[in-house]
Amino acid sequence: MRDVTKNNITDVFMGYLGPDVNPRLREVLGSLVTHLHAFAKEVNLTHSEWETGISLLERAGEISDKERHEFILLSDVLGLSSLVDMINSRSEGTSSSVLGPFHISGAPKLAIGGDLKGLFGGPVLVAEGIIKNTEGEPIERATIDIWQTAPNGLYSSQDEDQDTYSFHGLQTTGANGRYAFTTARPVEYTVPSDGPVGDILNACGRHPWRPSHLHFIVKAEGYRPLVTEVFSEDDPYLDQDTVFGVRKDLILSYQKMPAGTFPDGFALSGSVNEAYLKVEFDLTLVKI
Ligand code: BEZ
Ligand code: FE
Repeated sequence: MRDVTKNNITDVFMGYLGPDVNPRLREVLGSLVTHLHAFAKEVNLTHSEWETGISLLERAGEISDKERHEFILLSDVLGLSSLVDMINSRSEGTSSSVLGPFHISGAPKLAIGGDLKGLFGGPVLVAEGIIKNTEGEPIERATIDIWQTAPNGLYSSQDEDQDTYSFHGLQTTGANGRYAFTTARPVEYTVPSDGPVGDILNACGRHPWRPSHLHFIVKAEGYRPLVTEVFSEDDPYLDQDTVFGVRKDLILSYQKMPAGTFPDGFALSGSVNEAYLKVEFDLTLVKI
C-alpha cells in the first residue's frame, strides 16, 4: 500500500497477513492490532507516551530472569492474567485463580496429614478437604501441589534463609479423595514492586499487596487441571488484591479451634496442645 493513512492502517495490516497464516493467529493478532490502533487513536497517543510504554517494556525485559517474571507480573496487575483465568474457568467446578511466579515443580511428597510448617512460628493451620468431581464423588489418586509464603511473607525462592522446597508439598489422595496437611497461617504480602511494574502501581496510586492465600494445583487423570488459591475471609486486602485473584467461592473461614482439640491422624498430632486454626475446603474438578 502506497497511501497508508490513519483510517486505513488497520486494514492495511490485515492485508499484509499471508494467505496461509494460521486462522487462529489471524483472529487473535488481527484483533489485538485492531484494538491497539483504535486505542492509540482514541487517546491521541503522543510520541513521548509511546516512548514511556516502550521503555517500560524494555525495563521489564532487563529485570526478568528465570526467577523474576516481570511480564507475567505486568499481566497480573493489569488484570489480564485473571481475565484469562476466568474466561477459561468452568462454572461447574471450583474457580481457578492466578498461578503467580512462585510455583516450583518437583515439590517433595507430603503424606496425608503431613506438615509444611516445621519450625516456623505462628499459629498452626489445619487444612483439609475432599477432591471430588461435579457429581460429588471423591477422586482417588488426585494430586494437590501446595505452596505458600513463610510467615515472613516470602516464598522460598525469595528468601535465602529458606530451603528450596520450604512451604511446598505434593499430596496424593486415597480412595476417599481426602487431602489434609498442617501449615503456618498464610500472611498477606507484596508482589515484587522494585521494577517497572512497581512504578506503574505507584503512578496509578495502587499498592502491591495481595491478601493471604494458599496456592493449589490439583490434577487427576481425566479431569481438567485446576490452578487455584484460597483466601481467609478476615483478610484486610480481600477487596483490593493487586492481581485480581479473589473469587467468592475461594474465600473461606479459618475456624479458631480451642486448645486440647488437635485431631489425630496428623504428623503434628500429640505435639500441638495450644489453640490452632482449621480450614476445610472441598475442591471440585471438571471432567475433560
Ligand atoms: C502469587 O500469589 O504468588 C503472585 C501472583 C501474582 C503475582 C505475584 C505473586
Ligand atoms: Fe502467592
